Amino acid sequence: MSSPSRSGAFDSAVDQRVERFSESISFDRRLYPQDIAGSIAHAQMLADQNILSADECQQIVDALTEIKGQLDDGTFETKQSLEDIHMNIEQALIDKLGDVGRKLHTGRSRNDQVSTDLRLWTRDAIDRIDALLLDLQKSFVGRCVQDADVIVPAYTHLQRAQPVLANHVWLAYTEKFQRDRERLADCRKRLNLCSLGTAALAGTTLPIDRQNSAKRLGFDGVVANSIDSSSDRDFVLETAFCLSTIAIHLSGWAEEWILWATVEFDFIQLPHEFCTGSSIMPQKINPDVLELTRGKSARVIGDLQTLLVLTKGLPLAYNRDLQEDKPPLFDAVDTVEICLELAAPLVAGAVLKRDSIESRLEKGFLDATTLMEYLIKRGTPQRKAHHLIGQLVRTATEKSTTLAELSLEDFQALDSTLDKSVYDVLGVKKAVASFQSEGSTAPSRVAEQVAAWQARLA
Ligand code: ARG
Repeated sequence: MSSPSRSGAFDSAVDQRVERFSESISFDRRLYPQDIAGSIAHAQMLADQNILSADECQQIVDALTEIKGQLDDGTFETKQSLEDIHMNIEQALIDKLGDVGRKLHTGRSRNDQVSTDLRLWTRDAIDRIDALLLDLQKSFVGRCVQDADVIVPAYTHLQRAQPVLANHVWLAYTEKFQRDRERLADCRKRLNLCSLGTAALAGTTLPIDRQNSAKRLGFDGVVANSIDSSSDRDFVLETAFCLSTIAIHLSGWAEEWILWATVEFDFIQLPHEFCTGSSIMPQKINPDVLELTRGKSARVIGDLQTLLVLTKGLPLAYNRDLQEDKPPLFDAVDTVEICLELAAPLVAGAVLKRDSIESRLEKGFLDATTLMEYLIKRGTPQRKAHHLIGQLVRTATEKSTTLAELSLEDFQALDSTLDKSVYDVLGVKKAVASFQSEGSTAPSRVAEQVAAWQARLA
């Protein structure tokens, strides 16, 4: 069967190799729910404009609904010779309705059809990913009850830096995933405009009503310029960028917990249903889900790169290159979706190893900066205090003690005015309790933020 897009201008059938080379049905079949919805809205608009009769419209809607049923239950047979999902569905409609079916494509081109379908598909994907991000945020905030009294070392350069509440860490991730959600919502606003009726690129001479079909499909409005509409894939790029940022956040978290699950850190017990074993080493309980989450971020970033390079240097308006946008978009969405599906229960099911964390909490001088600030509060200039505490750290290292274990004489050797109130800020627990600033790890500040997040996610 020759394709509906092959007009009377051709003197031969397409070369078989070209057919195989240029098909997209192998990957765009999944656009069928959007394609059917778009075609139904288009037909109804055409009827409202008296371009189709009410009866013709009804026949088309009924036949498209039937075709959707066949696609849903797997009885619809797609043909490579019809190139893509759009023409496969249209041909099936023509097979059912003859000339009435041949009227559906009035005032429409595959260029605006593909763009509309892809906008609808991406909009759904964004909504699914937003819900998964919310689940993950709930997992992190959900931990804040059980982990409220746990202090962990925080790191810069992967060297022990300052003590923080575990809840402060959980909220750090919650904030990152919140920005991811806001970026997606912003992207969704820009993509939620309808390209139907921009036709090939210049619009149409037929009296269509673009606002009508846009409203039927839940769009906020129409893409203003038909040439722009035909060539625009910014919404795909933006979505892939948002997905890449999510993947990077997931990858950072995965890396952190891979480290925390080592014997060397021994901070966390991962739920065994999210771990795998080794075929030779019986003791191994490996964090493969976290490793794959970290690894799969490479694919998502690669998908973004593919899309950026694909769209670079294309002249106006539609170019066939744009058919290649779907595999990387679908892959980025699928990858982030599965990673998020696993991340939420994994976060909820992991257990902090409190004793192990606490047994080494006084190592690494986590209270040194707090001690420095104690001196600053007493009037010592920061640079001088920084130098003095550095010297004290050296003394403690030589004596194999913590700062809190040093004698008052050790402190007074550096600053004769120091008295025993210095011990009020020493030791990790007291150091954490000394924090004050907004956004800090101060227990009252963290408790306020936990409460705010609990209310926000409720
Ligand atoms: N299969 C193509 C795609 O997905 C359809 C493009 C239709 N437009 C065209 N001028 N050939 O992009």
